Amino acid sequence: MWKGCSQGKEGLSCSRAAVTNISSKLGSIGLCLHVPEAPMYPYQASKAAQNMVTRCLAVELQDKGILCMAIHPGWVKTDMGTQEAPLTVEHSVRGILTVLASLSQHTSGAFLDWEGNSLPW
Ligand SMILES: NC(=O)c1ccc[n+]([C@@H]2O[C@H](COP(=O)([O-])OP(=O)(O)OC[C@H]3O[C@@H](n4cnc5c(N)ncnc54)[C@H](OP(=O)(O)O)[C@@H]3O)[C@@H](O)[C@H]2O)c1
Repeated sequence: MWKGCSQGKEGLSCSRAAVTNISSKLGSIGLCLHVPEAPMYPYQASKAAQNMVTRCLAVELQDKGILCMAIHPGWVKTDMGTQEAPLTVEHSVRGILTVLASLSQHTSGAFLDWEGNSLPW
């Protein structure tokens, strides 16, 4: 869970209090992605559960002026993502920061990827 706060915008945004949960496309029930090499059901189920919490929290926090959303960082070269991943950490983080800066009350409760694309829950 990432909590960000800077200054500048009115309404819900990362310029005010915000909760950004790092999720994964693998937790999307809508996409229901298959991982052929290694079934990851516990991971996928935990991300789907986290997505539900994100959605409920977004509704609860809206009246308090706190933005809440979920973001998929892409498949990234980390210990978890392995060196086979196409994205560097720098590329993913740059994308995430751009997406965070663009968030508003219209995207509170959204599930987006590091490029700002909307993902199905
Ligand atoms: N990499 C990808 O391709 C990818 C894709 C989709 C989503 N994500 C999500 O992105 C987030 C970051 O993943 P990552 O790729 O950076 O993974 P990572 O390289 O494996 O790093 C995971 C980090 O979480 C910490 N951690 C693990 N279990 C913990 C615990 N019980 N309590 C406290 N800290 C704990 C680890 O600390 P230690 O180093 O001390 O163990 C490590 O710093 C995760 O939520 C992951 O699901 C990653």
